[in-house]
Amino acid sequence: MAERYARITGWGMYVPSRVLTNHDLEQMVDTSDEWIVTRTGIRERRIVAEGETTVTMSLAASRQALAQARVLPADLDLIIIATSTPDYLCPSASSILQHALGARKAAAFDLVAGCSGFVYGLVTASQFIQTGLYERALVVGAETLSAGVDWTDRDTCILFGDGAGAVVLQASPYPTGILAAELGSDGADWDALMVPGGGCANPFSQGVLERREHYLRMDGRRVFKFATHIMSESVRRVVSQSGVPWEEIELVIPHQANARIIELAMRRLGLPPEKVMVNLERYGNTSAASIALALCEAVEEGRLRPDDHVVLVGFGAGLTWATAVVHWQPAEPEGILVVDWPVRERLAQQAAYLRTAAWNARVAVSTRASEAAMAVLLPFYTWSGRRRKKKTERRTTTDSR
Ligand code: UT7
Repeated sequence: MAERYARITGWGMYVPSRVLTNHDLEQMVDTSDEWIVTRTGIRERRIVAEGETTVTMSLAASRQALAQARVLPADLDLIIIATSTPDYLCPSASSILQHALGARKAAAFDLVAGCSGFVYGLVTASQFIQTGLYERALVVGAETLSAGVDWTDRDTCILFGDGAGAVVLQASPYPTGILAAELGSDGADWDALMVPGGGCANPFSQGVLERREHYLRMDGRRVFKFATHIMSESVRRVVSQSGVPWEEIELVIPHQANARIIELAMRRLGLPPEKVMVNLERYGNTSAASIALALCEAVEEGRLRPDDHVVLVGFGAGLTWATAVVHWQPAEPEGILVVDWPVRERLAQQAAYLRTAAWNARVAVSTRASEAAMAVLLPFYTWSGRRRKKKTERRTTTDSR
């Protein structure tokens, strides 16, 4: 069978119009705009209005993506919604979306991989197209996290927001779409980010409600450490595997969880800020929707242009991660066959591969070195932080006497 690729031909996004700022949150929990901005980079997030759900937002984003791709819903073969906040525990949000779109012949299922879900979905749908089973697929990342967070828990409620992003994939004979990818999971840390109640291990009960176990719980520090490590390591591996010279990666779109995580990981990769898409200050962490929203905005802002290479990298509950190097070419290009390249181009390509190998080695060394430095310095920072806190407490007690 001739080689097939899955081209991204359409994209769309939807965010609710209601804005919840850090100042609004100051009225709800013991927090401050200053703490949230310095620790996360988030300034505001969107929250659904009454009647808006994961499916209604997915529908709005999908209609845009389908119109852009000029694909009729009835021609879709597959619909995947990546989400951890479906409208109902059963059936899937994807089946409800399929009906709302009128995509009668499409298979439909939800994909749960936390904040890595959109990239997991993209890779999954691409596989169905590349094997020849399907021609057209719709992949959505959508979340209504405002319904899943505990609005009395300042550790989590300041982080999350609602939204949906969608892309349409179509079969293509030209090498485009996902060129290399890595999907991963480290289940050893499954309890670092979880909803403890409501599943069969701890079904809904009065006790679950009273203990607030139906809300999201997170060990932020554990996730932070995992995220900074996995993002730089996985991006390094997948870019090398793709064969795309490092300098030809025009943009990286990371999961929008925390500006500090993104900054640290991108510094390890030696990437300047202008090559990194960040929009979390306006939307917060929208989990499986975040990369899809950032992708749509990158295209709209002209930061992602035809023939560019973009790296998508996500991490989240599981703990999972997902990285993909994507060739962005929404319209059919004029084909240039690699075998027709003159000698000069082929030599330049070899030189670029060598430069990528050197970059790969440098990132590996710098990631190990910065992790070793963190391992040495962290106990010291924790100790000195506690000491400072105790001193302040002692001073406050003495002053109040
Ligand atoms: O989508 C993937 C899932 N999530 C993530 O990627 C999250 C990864 N983790 C993080 O982004 C960060 O760990 C957080 C933003 C969640 C927290 O930042 P941190 O720098 O790790 O803070 P921390 O948890 O170490 O807390 C530092 C202090 C604590 O006070 P003490 O013990 O030092 O007195 C917290 O109680 O900050 C306190 N704190 C707050 N203060 C004001 C925690 N939350 C808040 C808050 N406002 N909202």
